[in-house]
Amino acid sequence: MAVIQFQHVGRVFRQNGKEFVALKDINFEVGDREFVAVVGPSGCGKTTCMRMAAGLEHPTDGEVKVDSEIVTQPGPDRAVVFQQFALFPWKTVWDNIDFGLRSLRVDTEERKRRIEQIIALMGLGGYEQAFPHQLSGGMQQRVAIARAYVLDPKVLLMDEPFGALDAQTRVVMQEELVRLARKNPRTVLFITHAVEEAVYLADRIVVMSRRPGSIREIIDVKTVRETENWDAHTCIEDVMDLPSFVHLRTHVWKLLREQQLGDEH
Ligand SMILES: Nc1ncnc2c1ncn2[C@@H]1O[C@H](COP(=O)(O)OP(=O)(O)O)[C@@H](O)[C@H]1O
Ligand SMILES: [Mg+2]
Repeated sequence: MAVIQFQHVGRVFRQNGKEFVALKDINFEVGDREFVAVVGPSGCGKTTCMRMAAGLEHPTDGEVKVDSEIVTQPGPDRAVVFQQFALFPWKTVWDNIDFGLRSLRVDTEERKRRIEQIIALMGLGGYEQAFPHQLSGGMQQRVAIARAYVLDPKVLLMDEPFGALDAQTRVVMQEELVRLARKNPRTVLFITHAVEEAVYLADRIVVMSRRPGSIREIIDVKTVRETENWDAHTCIEDVMDLPSFVHLRTHVWKLLREQQLGDEH
């Protein structure tokens, strides 16, 4: 059963009195505990899709549904992680993670249990009382992810969450997220423009094309990952060297490159 559904979704923006079609006839689903990555050139409408699932933006055509209900506004069933960490600078790591739980009125004991668990899982032990400015970008983004995961939301929406990190930190975070996702599967809609990241993390990849943003192809990664047993390899470099990984990555690259060439001719 699909948890997130995009059905004939379109979005038209008005700019200086002119209409601009940002998205056209977007159709895809994210199943229960499925990790779906959306890739596409910048400006193709990835963030707009995510904001519509979050209820921060609305389609001008078609419908976005979560659990078969049309999304009209943000809700506690959906947690969002943005590229910019958006932590509360005046709150400690613990209090940042605690904030959402408090607003959901989770009781004290349960909050403590869940925060301790996610802190251990995300490797944030020892930093509970630190403030965001005392942490590196990678650690801050761990806190942002912990803050979303701790709510145990039905759906996680992530918009280029590793986009602002340096290359090494990014790799570590990708490995962490894979560990977390396999141990504790969630329904995830993950936006990225990094092809390797999508192939490494996702069960399926939605490849978008631009002008107006539409779906080029939807690729099944999970079957390949399971058949070729990628999870037997603990580090991302080893997975990325596997012929089955290279094959998928090349396929996605070609789809994206076609659009670049299409623009030039
Ligand atoms: N609120 C808005 N008003 C006008 N145009 C917008 C608005 N939000 C996004 N757009 C335009 O829609 C297109 C898709 O944007 P976006 O979803 O941010 O793309 P992506 O995340 O794939 O880079 C871009 O051309 C952008 O300028
Ligand atoms: Mg974007």
